[in-house]
Amino acid sequence: MFSARTEWTFTPNRLALHLDERRRQGLPVLDLTESNPTRCAFEFDQQAILDLLRHPRSLIYEPEPRGLRSARAAVADYYAGRGAIVDPHQIFLTTSTSEAYSYVFRLLANPGDVVLTPRPSYPLFDFLTRLNDVEMVHYPLVAPREGDRRSFFVGDTHGDASLAGDRNWQIDLEALGKTVRAPRAVGKCSPRVRAILAVHPNNPTGSFVKPRELDVLLDLCHRHHLALITDEVFADYTFAPTGSPAASHAGAARALTFTLSGLSKISALPQMKLAWLVVNGPPDELTAALARLEVIADTYLSVSTPLQHALPGLLALRRQVQPQILARVRQNLAWLDQRLADNPPVTRIPSEGGWYAILRVPTSRTDEDWAVELLTREGVMVHPGHFYDFDSEGQLVVSLLPAPAVFQEGMDRALHLMNALF
Ligand SMILES: Cc1ncc(COP(=O)(O)O)c(C=O)c1O
Repeated sequence: MFSARTEWTFTPNRLALHLDERRRQGLPVLDLTESNPTRCAFEFDQQAILDLLRHPRSLIYEPEPRGLRSARAAVADYYAGRGAIVDPHQIFLTTSTSEAYSYVFRLLANPGDVVLTPRPSYPLFDFLTRLNDVEMVHYPLVAPREGDRRSFFVGDTHGDASLAGDRNWQIDLEALGKTVRAPRAVGKCSPRVRAILAVHPNNPTGSFVKPRELDVLLDLCHRHHLALITDEVFADYTFAPTGSPAASHAGAARALTFTLSGLSKISALPQMKLAWLVVNGPPDELTAALARLEVIADTYLSVSTPLQHALPGLLALRRQVQPQILARVRQNLAWLDQRLADNPPVTRIPSEGGWYAILRVPTSRTDEDWAVELLTREGVMVHPGHFYDFDSEGQLVVSLLPAPAVFQEGMDRALHLMNALF
């Protein structure tokens, strides 16, 4: 009765079972995976948010496939502030980045076509590609050398990843190039590669795509007639000392480029369900892509009118919440690094931005075993690396959003136990 694309394994994993059991027993959980910003004690201007949803024009239905122009103009202004000039005509509003991915996959790929995605990365890519009948083939991100604790930032090296040495995560450009050029050589990858997907900065590695890497990606896309899909939901959250965000890819026009983002991270309002995609590229491809996307978007007309009217105001609210989030993640990170300085079995993989930290942990147990031990013995919830498709054991991922008291107690307990069991 059901499609092959919904043949998932429905048995909960061990960690989920233990978490359910703990909650059933009413035992406390120090949740170091909490990344829902509406649950992390940030101050939102509640009245302003609710008032923004009361625009009188919300009583009128004005269907517009791309979304209301006033809303798209606000998105274009946001990109102008990040160094990318785009016309509102190049912008499509969607209810989520997930929906934007569906539009782009539907636009580019026939069933079975391939999209190249980074590894490790965002777990939902597995579902998003599968639900759209797209084949996902990974290209590797290379972790910084062990022992290097200091990150170089995009600005420090003028974007030259080679100058940054092994201190940052890097795209394995050689492996990526081989996969694009000789897709048969990697087995599953058919010649029908349609797009390279990059996450800027990536979740959970917190690594930005360096300008030199972007150059190579665009070059590959241009030469092999592929599209670049770039996910910038975390782009405003940089740990760079200057604090200035990395440039957006939305202005890239050497290859057909789709830049995705939305309110869930920019204004920390995931409940608003409002995101977008920006299209850019060589004129002929851009015109054709816009025409086709308009039909896709017209088929759904999915973004509600009150939200479109609220978008300019909700986007402006980022100026209140982003400083709080940046202060929080920097504070948790600084505390963590200090705490890890005398805790040799556990180190942190350097990162450049985002909302997550990756711990390098002893491989005397699997990551899932560590996570289960931490939960059952100490009530501390962390994510094992395989959740993000790391290609080896030895990584746990924690969110940097929890309030410092929760973060510090959770990490203290976790490090204590790992020290004892190591
Ligand atoms: C890389 C990445 N893209 C997109 C999203 C989600 O965006 P949205 O809520 O707009 O679907 C997330 C959420 O964590 C993410 O990590």
